[in-house]
Order: sequence, then structure tokens, then C-alpha cells
Amino acid sequence: MKNLLMFIGLFLTLLVVSCGGGGDDSPIIPDPDPTPTTITYANTISGIVSARCTSCHGSPPTNGAPNSLTTYASVKEAVQNRGLINKIETGVMPKNGSMLSATQIQNFKTWQNNGFPE
Ligand code: HEC
Repeated sequence: MKNLLMFIGLFLTLLVVSCGGGGDDSPIIPDPDPTPTTITYANTISGIVSARCTSCHGSPPTNGAPNSLTTYASVKEAVQNRGLINKIETGVMPKNGSMLSATQIQNFKTWQNNGFPE
């Protein structure tokens, strides 16, 4: 009787192990994280700026824009010292264009709150 229980136990263990292994040899693919939670300059901010800002804030800046926004350092500096977030929230920037979306504005705030990930 004891041996039978041991046998059943072993059998169940083997069953669990073999099922857990997946049967075939395809590896468990980690989730590629299609919606990144970390907003970085490279993955989010630079795309918004180059689509909506660098027509004036290029290198060199044109149309009377006082600064260029073409690099990580210059965009970060504009958030810190030139009131960039306030200007996009109030629609002052992009000048003569439609406001950024609420999501895009939030992305700038998240980027700032997280310490400007590059
Ligand atoms: C059509 C041209 C144009 C576009 C597009 C534009 N800007 Fe500007 N920006 C200006 C001008 C011109 C100024 C100078 C202030 C003024 O004339 O209103 C300025 C000023 C600024 C300033 C203040 C700089 C300072 O030193 O005081 C910031 C920050 C800024 N823009 C951010 C942005 C951002 C962010 C975008 C894109 C979302 C953007 N701008 C799009 C023309 C533009």
C-alpha cells in the first residue's frame, strides 16, 4: 500500500514536470512589453519633438524660435529652464499648430517625473 502511494506520487510528479516543460522544445518567450512603461527620450519624446517642434526649433532654430530642440540635452534643458511643459499644456507651443494630445503632454510630465530617462 505504501509503495503504491509512492508510485502514484512519483507518477504525478513526473506528469507535472513533463507538462510544465511544455512537451515541445519551444522556449517560453518573455513578453516583449509592447506598451513600455518607461518613457525615454529615445522611445517617445524625440519622436514627438521631431514631428511637432523641430520645424522651428531645429538646428539652427528658425521662424524666430530662440532655441533648438534636436538633442536629449536641449529638450531636457527646455523642460527644466524654459517652461516647455507649461507651454505645451497651455497650447502656446507648438506655435501656430494644434495642441499636443493629452497623452503626449502626459508623456513629457512622466519623463520629467522619472528624471529624464535617456
Ligand atoms: C512655428 C514655429 C514653432 C513651432 C512648431 C514650435 N515652436 Fe516653440 N517657439 C517658437 C517661437 C517663435 C518661440 C519664441 C517665443 C514666441 O515667439 O512665442 C518659441 C518658444 C518656445 C519655448 C520657450 C523658449 C525660451 O527660451 O523662452 C519653448 C520651451 C518652446 N518654444 C517649445 C516648443 C515645443 C515643445 C514645441 C513642439 C511641441 C514647439 N515649441 C514648437 C516657434 C515654434
